[in-house]
Amino acid sequence: MNAFLPYGRQDVGSEELRRVREVLESDWLTQGPQVPAFEAALAAACGAKHAVAVANGTLALYIAFRAAGLGPGDRFIVPPITFVATANAGVLCGAEPVFVDIDPATLTLDPAKVEAALLADPTIRAIVPVHLGGRVADLPALARLAAQHGAVVIEDACHAVGTRWRDDDGAWHAVGDGSHGVMTCFSFHPVKSITTGEGGAVTTNDPALAGKLALLRTHGITRDPARLERADGPWYYEMQDLGFNARLTDLQAALGLAQLEKLPRVQQRRLELVRRYDHAFEPIPQLRTQARPVPDASCWHLMIVRSAHRRALYDALAAAGIGSQVHYYPVHLQPWYRHNFGTGPGLCPAAEAYYDEALSLPLFPTMTDGDQQRVIGEVWRFFAERPDTAVAATTGAGRASHG
Ligand SMILES: Cc1ncc(COP(=O)(O)O)c(C=O)c1O
Repeated sequence: MNAFLPYGRQDVGSEELRRVREVLESDWLTQGPQVPAFEAALAAACGAKHAVAVANGTLALYIAFRAAGLGPGDRFIVPPITFVATANAGVLCGAEPVFVDIDPATLTLDPAKVEAALLADPTIRAIVPVHLGGRVADLPALARLAAQHGAVVIEDACHAVGTRWRDDDGAWHAVGDGSHGVMTCFSFHPVKSITTGEGGAVTTNDPALAGKLALLRTHGITRDPARLERADGPWYYEMQDLGFNARLTDLQAALGLAQLEKLPRVQQRRLELVRRYDHAFEPIPQLRTQARPVPDASCWHLMIVRSAHRRALYDALAAAGIGSQVHYYPVHLQPWYRHNFGTGPGLCPAAEAYYDEALSLPLFPTMTDGDQQRVIGEVWRFFAERPDTAVAATTGAGRASHG
């Protein structure tokens, strides 16, 4: 019997252990030198001027919304196919979510629907695209719309650390470079491309926003002499905003520094695995995959497939010891949102149709080619054995073994 294959798994090795041990043996477990070093390395990896590290991706989103000034009376556009934290972070600031449907091919915000929402509602102050599964949303279109309507783009890139993409003018961008969004939010949860255990960050090119983010991360407290109202002595600090303890520890930052060094390899491996899956599934008409950008330099976080037989496929994979997951039940259908914002079925038909068919297959850099063949083989077997999927049965075996 094969070992259970999860849908995602962290890649933590001896270098990470060494770096964390070093911190454990040092004077600083938190608020020492590792956090600024991690922030500098992350900013450099993204091509951003500033990075502010925080305790998780949810708090990254929350302080980004707060730094953008989102509050009561404001609305923000968010896709329903995301983790609940994207919408929750704005609601916790007092703002109201406007759920706008996804493009059924890319699974990210549909710019035409975003435009319609902006035209209908002048209280919308932010557009929050989610780079689902590592695929960058249509940032040029969304940034254009935001500028036309006096809104800002705040990217939820919790799935997309390490993704690079090419715009229509041929210029390459790293997600988080601030070229289209004023702030970009990341998560370093263990299933993500790099991990700090729990962790997150916001990148920005705006020094004023970076200052606000740093303030909100530490209770709104500053010790910066240039900002203080008084100069009582070296012990003195001021609370100038209402914030949290949203700090990342030095232990986590040391782990993150080692992980960041691996990111280019992680991106390559994830892309390689996705390409092989796409190739293997191409002849199965009952199975659709997420649209890939051309050229593709995404750091794929999820291998999403769509099938009308999703539940049966999930069960067949589970019976074969293969984990899979659904990302996500649409947020506007969650009971809390239905009860508090009057959302419900029919609001975002593309997202709702997607949810009925979605399944994320195992994808992580340390899965072996053999692990992947196991998944591909089980998927092929599943479709070959169904009477309504005869095409798969004729060509399945050869395709499944293709590298
Ligand atoms: C799209 C998205 N946004 C936000 C978050 C929240 O990140 P965290 O779990 O680090 O708080 C996640 C994490 O699962 C996510 O997938």
